[in-house]
Amino acid sequence: LICTGWSDAQYCNYSKQLTAKKDLFEHLGLDKNDSQNNRMWPIIFTFTPLYIFVDLYVTSIINVDEKAQSLTTQVEVLTEWPNWNMEWDLNTFCGIRKVVAPKNMFWAPDIGIMESIRTEFGTKDSPNVLLFHYGRTVSVDSLSLTTACKMDLYRFPFDTQRCNLTFQSTAYSMQEIILRQMSDQPFINHFSKELFQAEGEWELLSINYSKNTLFRDIEFDQLIYQITIKRRPLLYVINIIVPVFFFLLLDVASFFIDTNGEDKLSFKVTLLLSISVMLLILSNTLPSTAEKIPLIGIYCCAVFCLIGISIVEIILVNYLKAKGAKKSSVETTSTVSGQDGDIKNQQNPPDSVRDQNEEQSYTIELLKQIIIECQAATQRKQRQRTFLSLTSVARIIDVAFLVIYLITTTVFLSVLGKLWIPY
Ligand SMILES: *[C@@H]1O[C@H](CO)[C@@H](O)[C@H](O)[C@H]1NC(C)=O
Ligand SMILES: *[C@@H]1O[C@H](CO)[C@@H](O)[C@H](O)[C@H]1NC(C)=O
Ligand SMILES: *[C@@H]1O[C@H](CO)[C@@H](O)[C@H](O)[C@H]1NC(C)=O
Repeated sequence: LICTGWSDAQYCNYSKQLTAKKDLFEHLGLDKNDSQNNRMWPIIFTFTPLYIFVDLYVTSIINVDEKAQSLTTQVEVLTEWPNWNMEWDLNTFCGIRKVVAPKNMFWAPDIGIMESIRTEFGTKDSPNVLLFHYGRTVSVDSLSLTTACKMDLYRFPFDTQRCNLTFQSTAYSMQEIILRQMSDQPFINHFSKELFQAEGEWELLSINYSKNTLFRDIEFDQLIYQITIKRRPLLYVINIIVPVFFFLLLDVASFFIDTNGEDKLSFKVTLLLSISVMLLILSNTLPSTAEKIPLIGIYCCAVFCLIGISIVEIILVNYLKAKGAKKSSVETTSTVSGQDGDIKNQQNPPDSVRDQNEEQSYTIELLKQIIIECQAATQRKQRQRTFLSLTSVARIIDVAFLVIYLITTTVFLSVLGKLWIPY
């Protein structure tokens, strides 16, 4: 009733209870400032390694920095180690099971996290440890950890990241310290998910642990916690993937704009500029790793290129059409002037004298005229054909390009979709 860890009346009567804690502190030497006894290696007289138990719970994911390839998490680390110098008998000390004592009075293992870039104490560096009567010491730390984590952003934003947190003693070898997990995997997973607070961009999938040994000059025992987190992709789908897809659709639709080419051109250039804004956003998020280009980068870049190529095509078609139009206008003016001449020529003969010879010469003249006219007509037809062929070439290019464009787009999108979304 007086205090937790204080025990049942079966151990002792009331008067003894009042002094039990003081007695215990004296017994453990905690009342003395000179506590050399407490600071020494807890099992100095044996040669067996010390088993240290570690538990890790991830309580929130604060930040995932893709550019810096680092993960910032809020974790709770429980470390438990034996200290045979700090044992006591329950019956002698009124059944007191645990004592809170200042941390700096005791030997503590130097367990560090190898991936750590920066470690801060989440709330406050706990100044105390818990001592249990069976000779074990427990330290509970709430840490804000920034760790290096190599991320694979190939499938961004549909990606799942695995980040390691490696616990290892910085000085003690495997012959002195062996690390073990305290709780089993299902419990850690369950408890972490229960403690997990932030419903942010990342979802905690699982925490797994494994053992490893690091061979340097000396062997170090390692306990590796692997945190698996999954990104919620909705934000990026809304912000980047869907808009870029619609830009592509609009680009296809712009083939059917039925005006002169300049409108089309300015429309397409506007689309191109919009996509370059998306690329700018992306370049702020993704790191410039040379390993594997993220699919989203390929997607945006390919759409950018497709629209760019279609702009080039529009320019080509416009050029051909303009050239055709110029030729046709030249042609029509020339034919009009030619016809005028013909009319004049035809008007002239009836005014001439009706002599037979002259009539003969007139028929010859007429025949010549007809031949010339025939030649002119064939020439005109040829010219018209060249003019016709220019516009029809432009039209054929336009249609063929549209077909190729549609096929390319469909194939590209389906292949990309298969690679990108694994389910
Ligand atoms: C309590 O127990 C101690 C011995 O354990 C004894 O000396 C003392 O007299 C007891 N006190 C009472 C009030 O019973
Ligand atoms: C993380 O740990 C696992 C073993 O649990 C190991 O296979 C993997 O290579 C480690 N990853 C990194 C980046 O060190
Ligand atoms: C990690 O643990 C979870 C749940 O305990 C399990 O489903 C998953 O397969 C494990 N992953 C690895 C890589 O061992």
